[in-house]
Amino acid sequence: MIRAAVLAVTERSVTKKIVADTPAGRSVAKRFVAGDSLAEAVDVAKELNALGMKVSLDHLGEHVSAIEEAASARDSYLGCLGQIAEHHLDANISVKLTQLGLGLDNDAAATHLDEIATAALDAGTNVTVDMEESAHTQATIDMYATAQKTHGNLGIALQSYLRRTQDDLERIIPLGGHIRLCKGAYAEPNEIAFQGAEVDESFDRLGAALMKATGVKPAIASHDDMRLAKILVGASDRSEPWEFQMLYGIRRDRQRELVDMGHEMRVYVPFGEAWYPYLTRRMAERPANLLFFMRALVSK
Ligand code: FDA
Repeated sequence: MIRAAVLAVTERSVTKKIVADTPAGRSVAKRFVAGDSLAEAVDVAKELNALGMKVSLDHLGEHVSAIEEAASARDSYLGCLGQIAEHHLDANISVKLTQLGLGLDNDAAATHLDEIATAALDAGTNVTVDMEESAHTQATIDMYATAQKTHGNLGIALQSYLRRTQDDLERIIPLGGHIRLCKGAYAEPNEIAFQGAEVDESFDRLGAALMKATGVKPAIASHDDMRLAKILVGASDRSEPWEFQMLYGIRRDRQRELVDMGHEMRVYVPFGEAWYPYLTRRMAERPANLLFFMRALVSK
């Protein structure tokens, strides 16, 4: 309910103008985004690696409206992979298929994903396919499955709020790779998505199944202590690798604590100029972030 309301407000062009075009908006974004440039993201990745954390670099952008933009997003990811190799970063990349052209030209999007996966293999790393709005879930899974069967160095995000995810998990586990389990960040209707506490219950169920699966690497992506605690209970029986994932700028102390406890932690590091939609989802998750923005706005 709150998420839908916040996203409805942030999607209005007047709100977008106030947030994206003011110093206050940029200062809030800085808390969650490494910077506008790849060089800034590389610096952040080095700092996180030095703290014993892995990184996933995300060049912000989604829903391109021209195929040239999708090709340029592909080029940006190829550049990112080049930097990962050059600086020996302990990092992979996260991509959104709508940024690569999904929904506009699906064949081109699949080709872009192939090119990125090939370059990632050369760079000695892998690619995570982010999950977007439910309108793209099936196409994202299908494109992921094809690329993963060809290249073998991909992973995908699944959202515990979708009622379909149990079935998707069963289909995706045999493909190997890594599977990022998150709650889901978009406003989705009751017919297809759990709401409230049911999202957490689904996360716990799916998390338990994922931690028991063999031949895949579970990536538990949450800042919610109750969810993490349940995963930690099941983790003692797991002999294969798995990791926690958290977002840049969120619960940094907890990130360090988990590393100190000996767990693998990967921090999702977004960078780039197209930070507005990403920021709105972070605000919708936690209305306190909206207050933070309002304070920044009035203090200018
Ligand atoms: P929850 O929202 O219940 O938060 C638990 C606690 O974490 C809060 O009480 C607060 O302390 C802290 N917290 C959470 N969000 C915060 C915020 N924005 N600001 C400050 N504190 C915050 N979603 C998606 O749909 N597709 C995807 O591909 C991904 N990918 C992804 C990668 C990674 C590494 C992470 C961690 C998350 C995603 N997500 C995502 C987002 C995810 O679906 C979800 O919206 C957020 O992680 C928030 O859910 P939590 O599980 O953290 O719990």
